[in-house]
Amino acid sequence: MKSAPVDFPSWAQISPKRQGHVRRVAALATEWAGQMGVSRQERERWLRAVALHDALKSAPKRELRALAENSWGVDALLHGPAAAMRAEEEGETDRGVLDAVRYHSVGYAGWDLVGRILYLADFLEPGRSFHSPDHDSLILRVPNDVDAVLRDVAKERVSGTIALGKPLLPEVVGFWNSLVLTS
Ligand SMILES: [Fe+2]
Ligand SMILES: [Fe+2]
Repeated sequence: MKSAPVDFPSWAQISPKRQGHVRRVAALATEWAGQMGVSRQERERWLRAVALHDALKSAPKRELRALAENSWGVDALLHGPAAAMRAEEEGETDRGVLDAVRYHSVGYAGWDLVGRILYLADFLEPGRSFHSPDHDSLILRVPNDVDAVLRDVAKERVSGTIALGKPLLPEVVGFWNSLVLTS
């Protein structure tokens, strides 16, 4: 499995295992950036979001709760909003990067390309326990059709949530609707 170097923030609290995941996410984002011919500046935005998104994955819950203004009442979702808040405090001003990090576990209708790419790479990186051959095909399709792959991935994730009998958060519904209503 490919991995790429990641410039984790100095305040990161993340296990070595999770660092491996983030490096594989970085490898995918780097590969897609090259295939899609995006500017160096855009690629750097993607990689900043990648480095930040799970940076507080191993932080204590009380620390995450103090940082996250909204985690939908679900502890597992605290680390995204908390990392976005911390990154903003540390000087990150790019709204697209911050929203990518904040909503990476959920989905967000207002995302620009950086949020979309992080959502895809986070889910599709080959080290995931749920990785399948279908996901390998999706990885290959991303550079030519981000929006179609996004719909496929969101469909799988939303269906999974429904299959588990869990509620759909308003942001998830808004994200899904934005994907199907604009196509
Ligand atoms: Fe995460
Ligand atoms: Fe992640």
